[in-house]
Amino acid sequence: MRNLHNLIVIVIITIIPKSLTIKSEFPDGFLFGASTASYQIEGAWNEDGKGENIWDKMVHSRPELVKDSANGDVACDSYHKYKEDVALAKDLNLNFYRFSISWTRIAPTGEMHKLNPKGIDYYNRLIDELLANNIEPMVTMYHWDLPQYLQDLGGWVNPIMVDYFTEYAKVLFSNFGDKVKWWITLNEPKETCRAYSNHSYAPYLNLNNTGYYMAGHIQLLAHSKVYHLYNELFRDKQKGKISISISGAFYMPKNESSVDDMEIADRANNFEIGWFSHPIYKGDYSPIMRKFVDRKSKEEGRPWSTLPTFTDEEIKLLIGTADFYALNHYSSRLVTSGSELDPSFNSDAEYSTFVDESWPVSIAPWLIVVPEGLHKLLVWIKNQYNNPPVIITENGYADDGRINDLERIDYIKSYLNSTLKAIYQNKCNVIGYTCWSLIDNFEWMDGYRYHFGMVHVDFNDPLRQRVPKASYQFYKNVVTNGKLDVQY
Ligand code: BGC
Repeated sequence: MRNLHNLIVIVIITIIPKSLTIKSEFPDGFLFGASTASYQIEGAWNEDGKGENIWDKMVHSRPELVKDSANGDVACDSYHKYKEDVALAKDLNLNFYRFSISWTRIAPTGEMHKLNPKGIDYYNRLIDELLANNIEPMVTMYHWDLPQYLQDLGGWVNPIMVDYFTEYAKVLFSNFGDKVKWWITLNEPKETCRAYSNHSYAPYLNLNNTGYYMAGHIQLLAHSKVYHLYNELFRDKQKGKISISISGAFYMPKNESSVDDMEIADRANNFEIGWFSHPIYKGDYSPIMRKFVDRKSKEEGRPWSTLPTFTDEEIKLLIGTADFYALNHYSSRLVTSGSELDPSFNSDAEYSTFVDESWPVSIAPWLIVVPEGLHKLLVWIKNQYNNPPVIITENGYADDGRINDLERIDYIKSYLNSTLKAIYQNKCNVIGYTCWSLIDNFEWMDGYRYHFGMVHVDFNDPLRQRVPKASYQFYKNVVTNGKLDVQY
């Protein structure tokens, strides 16, 4: 009976009316932004007292791991050229600019008893420049560049990180909180977990599922502690909003009329988007994730589950720790049972991923264009988590860096169109959209091969000249007019 009930719920949330007329205007007050991250754009890796982080360490000690042995030593040189970046954001008429803070610029080892005044000064100047141009700063506290010293202590698999991260957040609230009203604690915790489990990123570890789930558990606890710190010491005065950027593909049944595939898709979404959303919106891991990981651990003969358990007290502290839902989304997949598993996805969830041959593929093989996936995902979030306000904090397209980037325009247009459908057809409470990225930048393990920017950066030019692409003009029109110029 419960299975039948679950199935009916799945069917209802998957059926989305297709024939309604969609308005092309975004609702009043809808926020448009663009996003970057410190290691990907700043450069100046050892200037003005900045300490070494896990990316500095990896690209210098194991250069062969990154395509073309590229690194972020100079990147877009935004540490020196931030005023040019802000001028671009201003010209685009953006409401907000999402950037991240480099922890080792604030405190070279990550420990808060040794601060670096020049690093704090840099972010104050960046924030002031944004505000002087009427652009709201949206600040990510952590976008993957952990201080190397904290990594040497174990990094995100050591529970001590909860306190280190909270102390770091306290310094950020104290120094910038009078001017910053939008905070993201952690960027894409799931991707950080993959850095501990399958050599995806720095610190380039392979601690299997134990490391994978532990890194997630500790990040969740760190996030919730920072949220409560803000409530206790800063919120009354600073009146900001806090969230955590949760990433995920959306999983759809390979065969829409297969009951099994529907269940598998729902399970995959619980493992992916649900992993970090359930604890924050409902207090604990989703029951389906708990069941599958516990069972797998038992089958493997482990004395305990690789998915750690929250105490009752921790559950109470986790629930409700997002003032808005921050969603990073790029692509979707079809799922069914079987063994053709994409190794970047979780084997515990027992599903195989497929793509529809008609879906366009970007230069990055993982980034397949499926705008309907965003529409369905927004509806899924609405139904699962009681229609929270959602800001899409990342969405964008990879290509070879061409100036006439028509494919990027098509991508952004189709994903914005899906956003409008979710708003008007399904009454999803989406309040903002952020394009990744403002400028071309260091694309992690892919170096400078893939470009996500609306602005071209010449990485062979010592001046790192910035040249707006066609998508820049397109996005500027959308932002300025508050609507998509397309007929439905
Ligand atoms: C990350 C960005 C990255 C982008 C494109 C997101 O997962 O937050 O740092 O550049 O994807 O790969």
